Amino acid sequence: MKYENITAEIIDQLTQIVGSEFVFTDEENLRKYGHDETEDYNFPPSVVVKPKNATQISEILKLANAHLIPVTPIGGQTGLSGGALSIYKGIGLSLQRLNQILEIDENNLQVTVEPAVITQVLRDAVAQRNLFYPPDPSSQGSCWIGGNVAENSGGARAVKYGVTKDYVLNLEVVLPNGKIIWTGANTLKNSTGYNLTQLMVGSEGTLGVITKIVLKLLPQNTHNILMLVPFFDANQACEAVAKIFHAGIVPSALEFMEREAIDWTLKYVSDVNLTIKDEIKAHLLIEVDGNYPEILFKDAEKISEILEQFHIDEILFADSNEQKNALWKLRRAVGEAVKSNSIYKEEDTVVPRYELPKLLSGIKAIGQKYGFKSVCYGHAGDGNLHVNIVKENMSDEAWQTEIPKGIREIFELTVALKGTLSGEHGIGYVQKNFMDIAFTSTHLNLMRNIKTLFDSNNILNPGKIFPD
Ligand code: LAC
Ligand code: ZN
Repeated sequence: MKYENITAEIIDQLTQIVGSEFVFTDEENLRKYGHDETEDYNFPPSVVVKPKNATQISEILKLANAHLIPVTPIGGQTGLSGGALSIYKGIGLSLQRLNQILEIDENNLQVTVEPAVITQVLRDAVAQRNLFYPPDPSSQGSCWIGGNVAENSGGARAVKYGVTKDYVLNLEVVLPNGKIIWTGANTLKNSTGYNLTQLMVGSEGTLGVITKIVLKLLPQNTHNILMLVPFFDANQACEAVAKIFHAGIVPSALEFMEREAIDWTLKYVSDVNLTIKDEIKAHLLIEVDGNYPEILFKDAEKISEILEQFHIDEILFADSNEQKNALWKLRRAVGEAVKSNSIYKEEDTVVPRYELPKLLSGIKAIGQKYGFKSVCYGHAGDGNLHVNIVKENMSDEAWQTEIPKGIREIFELTVALKGTLSGEHGIGYVQKNFMDIAFTSTHLNLMRNIKTLFDSNNILNPGKIFPD
């Protein structure tokens, strides 16, 4: 793809659109906006602009289209697939100034929000009105709701409540040609034409820039029980997962952590105390929630009975909010802890939940074949396993040559198990060259044609999703 460089004249025009204090070309800012949380990549744009509304974004996209300049939308920079990396330089479009909760509609249980609102801030704001926005990515304290929509983020509560897509009713979007549309309606039901709202969700900033989001809310529930279950065998922990659903219980979270994930995280977050026996190989963190404690106790009891069929140690029931918060803090910090421990690569594999034991044992076998260690954790109830391949003392050469082959085999396994490449992190820059495993060329071409229909000059977030 041939793009034009940013000239002084372009900078001038961008300045006219957003004002000089919102245009940045200094090295420090370019690097600051050149990364997200994906491994150690940094692809700085040539210029960072911070528009304040859809109209300014529209002007920027028209300018970029006229001059064939790539534009990369940049959110909270917590992504794990490289969606915010300015691969072809150009304009880094920070959404930072679109950061208002516009309306909490208590009559309809909806909220209208701009993209740069931190997910946790949004969840807390609606909770103050006894309303519940369930999706809770581990990065909720820093990720933005716009990025959650762009990547169709999940989180621990997805197992009962669904992922971001299940809450998005309507979106205001600036299309690559500068036109501004609302994709749907603020209704719970909608059978009116193609579903552009859901096409936009998870499109990773390649089809349009999201400027307003209307989300469905639920009433807040009042009680929960959280239990941490130590297993002497990691595969057994995976086997237990489907059994819980078979028994008729849908936990509000069902998370898996391999031993090393929890060990590394305990070191990383120094203020959580937990003693784990040497023989323990994995944990399940299980939550049930609702409004009636007596029902939750019965559910927890039933879960315990199911788990006793497996080789487990004593279950820890969190007996205070402090303890619950500590366990959740531990679980949410696993990704950061692994990152701080070693050079690594992360895959976001997902399979139908019953296939989880085959996925885990298959990953370990592939690791043995190619000589790498993996630390796995994730949303077991969703069959969504985050596979962290850690470099540790592998040679640089082996890391370069063997790992891509190993990752390809892991994805082939997920697809053979009727799963796919990414459950909640997106394809972005880092997984795009594996898309042929999940899709035929017919399917990929349909997607390419959709991209071209929206963005004929391929200016919006190029270098993502589609294989090179
Ligand atoms: C988590 C992120 C990495 O589950 O998705 O912690
Ligand atoms: Zn996750």
